[in-house]
Amino acid sequence: MSDQENGLPEVRKWPELKLPDLLFTDTVRQAHARIEKEWDAQQRSACQTAAGRALWKHVIHDPFAELLAGETYLTSLHEKIKKDCTNNAREISGVILAVRTLWFDSKLESALHSSSGRDTQVVLLGAGMDARAYRLSCLKESHVFEVDLPEVLQMKTTLLQAAMESTNDHRHLTMKAKSLTRVVADIRGNDWLEKLQTSGFVPEKNTVWVLEGILYYLSHSQAMQVLKIIADKCTLTQTVLLADFMNKSSTTLSSSVFHFYSDWPDHLLPSLGFSNVKLSQIGDPDAHFGLMPDPLNLFNKLRTLPRSIQTHPDDGTPCHRLYLVQASGSPNQTLP
Ligand SMILES: C[S@@+](CC[C@H](N)C(=O)[O-])C[C@H]1O[C@@H](n2cnc3c(N)ncnc32)[C@H](O)[C@@H]1O
Repeated sequence: MSDQENGLPEVRKWPELKLPDLLFTDTVRQAHARIEKEWDAQQRSACQTAAGRALWKHVIHDPFAELLAGETYLTSLHEKIKKDCTNNAREISGVILAVRTLWFDSKLESALHSSSGRDTQVVLLGAGMDARAYRLSCLKESHVFEVDLPEVLQMKTTLLQAAMESTNDHRHLTMKAKSLTRVVADIRGNDWLEKLQTSGFVPEKNTVWVLEGILYYLSHSQAMQVLKIIADKCTLTQTVLLADFMNKSSTTLSSSVFHFYSDWPDHLLPSLGFSNVKLSQIGDPDAHFGLMPDPLNLFNKLRTLPRSIQTHPDDGTPCHRLYLVQASGSPNQTLP
């Protein structure tokens, strides 16, 4: 099968990086200079994630990804991709981000389709530079809430404003969601839910919670508290949680940045109050999207090993796993 049939641009010919003029305007340049100078690793991770979406644009259409990522992160990921192509690597850099984004997109879309109420809320915790409100038409009946730290949401607004002002043609830049509200809050604290409610979030309405690339930045007790708050909503209304979890060994990739992990989120979430939990690993049929054509790629090796195995039997390297988890619950469902 050719690379193009597998959803990859012909691998050895990954497109050259062509940065849009908008990145070189004064406002945008200054904004990204501040990000590099003032933001910590957690905040900057928002731009790295956007860079992944921007460079995998043949599968993810995100009209704002380049702008929100900025030149530094785009250039650095592009360099890695080029190296991977030259070295004939089995996994191309950024593929995890691309698969993760597509998995969240597809699960969000199906959750919204199966939701009985039209007025579903979607809450993105640690929304960062996510532009789903502008790129997913399945959100047309949904009220979207983006929760993140003040610096991140302020910068995102500045950058999006710059994009709007740079053109008279707003067709690609218009919002797809029914409404979008940015909520400044630190989810390590105990007032974020209250802030969400003050901003218009209604606890009794059906809600999809999107926790993409966020839980492992929290401590164990902070992450458990966030998950518990969400799980408690299952007793009130139809509640869906979409989240990615690192296993223990993945947190060692950067032990100063990553903290919370769960090796068995499919056991943890029912204990908190969710009644249906489905766990996928990168490379599984619903988390593949044709982006990992080499059958011997790392993800295929990992997912075929029992999850209790911590090191690869072949070479003794640690099994770094990222679990993609969908959980749900509602008042009329009983726990198994
Ligand atoms: C890896 S980024 C993921 C962003 C987005 N979900 C995505 O997938 O593109 C992590 C985000 O979590 C945010 N974050 C980290 N700690 C947070 C906290 N305590 N409260 C709110 N947001 C937080 C960061 O500012 C950053 O935007």
